[in-house]
Amino acid sequence: MISLRRAVDADLEEIGELERRIFPDPWSSAALEEAIVEGEALVAVDEQGRVVGYVTMACTLDLLHVQNLAVRRGQRRQGVGRRLLQASLDLGRERGAQAAILEVRASNRRARSLYSAAGCQIVGRRRAYSRVPAGGLPEDAVVYRCPLSGPESDE
Ligand SMILES: CC(C)(COP(=O)(O)OP(=O)(O)OC[C@H]1O[C@@H](n2cnc3c(N)ncnc32)[C@H](O)[C@@H]1OP(=O)(O)O)[C@@H](O)C(=O)NCCC(=O)NCCS
Repeated sequence: MISLRRAVDADLEEIGELERRIFPDPWSSAALEEAIVEGEALVAVDEQGRVVGYVTMACTLDLLHVQNLAVRRGQRRQGVGRRLLQASLDLGRERGAQAAILEVRASNRRARSLYSAAGCQIVGRRRAYSRVPAGGLPEDAVVYRCPLSGPESDE
């Protein structure tokens, strides 16, 4: 069974390892550590306590920025990403955010489908903005907004 909790210092190594494995331009350990220290990161852990996914976010005034969301490859399509996203939206709501902003590479159909299913809507596009694979050209990012004023999820 997978459970969700706030990330703690001891998770940094596993989060960093996943971040580097999954993203073409991973966040530095220092940036991830800051998110953890600020209490703005959640992890999904399996029964052995292994980190199988995480999300980092930043809440500024009434806006929640959902930043990095990732699930270990062998654990995908089991609802973990959806639970992490919902939990981060709930956290933003608790902190008084009125909306969440999420940016994603235009070609990232998995994440885009997840965001749409969560009720997020496209509000813009950033040209040549997004993370790029090594040697690749910058890609447009699609900006999603998710209102947080509705009822809370039951996660
Ligand atoms: C995007 C990501 C976090 C989704 O995690 P996940 O645990 O596999 O997602 P879930 O199982 O919760 O799926 C939720 C929904 O997302 C969408 N989705 C997820 N994977 C998908 C895929 N391979 N193809 C199409 N839709 C997909 C679907 O709408 C799915 O709902 P459904 O299963 O009812 O059809 C995961 O694929 C990942 O880590 N990708 C690499 C990192 C990344 O791109 N992060 C997002 C940008 S920061």
